[in-house]
Amino acid sequence: MPTPHKTSPAEQRAEDARRAVEDAIWAPSVHNTQPWRFGVRGSRISLRADADRRLDVADPDGREMIISCGAALYNLRLGLRALGHEPEVTLLPDPDRPHLLADVEIGRSGPADEHTRRLHAQVPHRRSHRGAFHAEPMPAAVLSAIRQEAEREGGRLIQAVDAHVAGALAALTDAAEHIQRRTPAYASEVARWAPSPGTRRKDGVQHAAYPKQTNRTEPHFPGRDFARGQGWGIQSPPDAEGAREDGMPLPGVVVLLVSAGDTPADWLRAGQALQAVLLRATEHGFSAAYHTQALQVPELRAFIRTHFCGDAYPQLLLRLGVPDMQELTSVRRPVQDVLTEET
Ligand SMILES: Cc1cc2nc3c(=O)[nH]c(=O)nc-3n(C[C@H](O)[C@H](O)[C@H](O)COP(=O)(O)O)c2cc1C
Repeated sequence: MPTPHKTSPAEQRAEDARRAVEDAIWAPSVHNTQPWRFGVRGSRISLRADADRRLDVADPDGREMIISCGAALYNLRLGLRALGHEPEVTLLPDPDRPHLLADVEIGRSGPADEHTRRLHAQVPHRRSHRGAFHAEPMPAAVLSAIRQEAEREGGRLIQAVDAHVAGALAALTDAAEHIQRRTPAYASEVARWAPSPGTRRKDGVQHAAYPKQTNRTEPHFPGRDFARGQGWGIQSPPDAEGAREDGMPLPGVVVLLVSAGDTPADWLRAGQALQAVLLRATEHGFSAAYHTQALQVPELRAFIRTHFCGDAYPQLLLRLGVPDMQELTSVRRPVQDVLTEET
């Protein structure tokens, strides 16, 4: 009788690394570009930015590309911790290789704590929302827990409590959206990452990921023009009104995720803070809608920083709330397309 194969520690590590990368790829990324590559060698996982997937027009410095990779790094760490490891992370380990964003040593073993287990359980459920929100207010305790997640990862949330601040951020988003729609280079970049229905691609923002029409909120934060006048998108049910008392759909809690500096290390931290915030929000039944248009226009980003961020740097503009429509869906490339097992 053949002896059953006993998994060696090295095989177990390789399997755990692969499972953690499975978690990592479910991070959000700008236009679902999935701008990451992972390499596994022994007990080390490396995360690299895939610069071919950077948005050359909207994101020439790679800020949003690196934020996206930071979100994936958070999931990678969380996945390893959920498997009982204690990952040790070195950000940007080699100044001569700026695309090498992090080296992660899988680390010693120990049981996963409750916080890890709860957040990890949310990884498959987190989805970006594009539209209005229901009237449920966010309980103060939830907002406070979400803020703490951001801070634990080196980020900070600034909430637009004042209606004039929320109004100004909405107006700046609107201005940026107009600028981007009338600038052919921006518009064709969005088109490149918003394939038509029926595509076989496993990246980009596909028509099942956005509604055909969105409820106008007050103030109104316009979404991206993924459908480009083609009528694409999911039909929302007629009763999907995120109404408040007077019938006007709600924008939700408007927050800026900010960082102390504006270097690639800060962007990586902001991405990790983003993902921690999103998973904690998901745990409590809240989703996020993103409006990064104004932060992609350098003059508008500088304006937002000066007026609303003190000394900090704005990295993301989000609305948080309970979605007013069914879950939107998203796609990912298979793990084998982004993972190299190095010998
Ligand atoms: C840095 C960053 C910027 C983003 N900006 C926008 C945006 O302006 N508008 C939008 O609808 N979604 C935005 N998103 C969300 C992505 O489109 C979304 O994560 C991606 O399509 C994958 O879908 P999922 O988050 O539902 O898994 C952004 C995500 C990241 C990480």
